[in-house]
Amino acid sequence: MMLELRGITKSYRTADPGGDPGRDTGKLLEVLHIQSLTVHEKERIALIGPSGSGKSTLLNIIAGIIRPTTGSLRLYGEELTDLDEKQRDRLRTESIGYIFQNFYLLPGFSALENVLIAMQFAGNLRGKAREERAKGLLKRVGLEGRMHHKPHQLSNGEQQRVAIARALANQPKLVLADEPTANLDAANALAIIQLLSEICSEQGAALILSTHDLQLVPYMDRTVQLEGGRYIEESRDCRGSRVSGDNRSSGESRLVAGYSEGMMEGSGDVIG
Ligand SMILES: Nc1ncnc2c1ncn2[C@@H]1O[C@H](COP(=O)(O)OP(=O)(O)OP(=O)(O)O)[C@@H](O)[C@H]1O
Ligand SMILES: [Mg+2]
Repeated sequence: MMLELRGITKSYRTADPGGDPGRDTGKLLEVLHIQSLTVHEKERIALIGPSGSGKSTLLNIIAGIIRPTTGSLRLYGEELTDLDEKQRDRLRTESIGYIFQNFYLLPGFSALENVLIAMQFAGNLRGKAREERAKGLLKRVGLEGRMHHKPHQLSNGEQQRVAIARALANQPKLVLADEPTANLDAANALAIIQLLSEICSEQGAALILSTHDLQLVPYMDRTVQLEGGRYIEESRDCRGSRVSGDNRSSGESRLVAGYSEGMMEGSGDVIG
């Protein structure tokens, strides 16, 4: 297995309005509590749940952007909570691609430069090879004619395509995407998710994608639903019904059915 979370919690100390400002009297508020979650290589997971349920917190913990309060997080057996900040940054650059809702492209740089700059930090490709990979990825996401456009010269959907190319640039084993389609219209959102799902499979990367959008769920292998920081999992290991080519309709209906049953009846296995 690739990624293993055990007993991961995140708590924040909330300010106590009546308390002594000089003393830490606030209450601890637990916003995430995941007893056990395993992600296999190349698996594609839809992370769903209402606003405030902890989706971004979970993705940020996996990315090493925030530290969990307790628990263990292993990537290929390596305990990530033992790493210092520099080591975590390195790991994120080399093994994890992160796609944000708001893209976070560097504004003064072209699409191509945005991808190249991300590759510069990892350093596994140089010179011509680096440029070829960057161009190949931009072409793969449909931006062959937009490589020299700066972010403000690109549509939202095109910017998200650059962000996808950039996230895949260093051949990460894991791609995290936090509501990557929230700023796109329905048709564009679907096209982006199909592309992201396909490109992760082609490049051999696992994908964890948070979304509110149920139409995207069939493009994933599995859904993990968060509720109040804990998780309920609706459909496990749907690899046999991957949504590609001919088995799209059966995969779609099975996953959507599984998802809506869990949502409607509040049923499902509470694991977290
Ligand atoms: N720095 C912080 N300090 C205190 N509480 C926080 C902090 N960051 C997040 N939280 C709380 O953690 C909970 C989970 O937040 P999170 O952003 O992970 O939710 P989410 O599922 O991503 O929501 P959305 O769908 O709106 O993006 C929220 O209730 C939020 O108020
Ligand atoms: Mg969020």
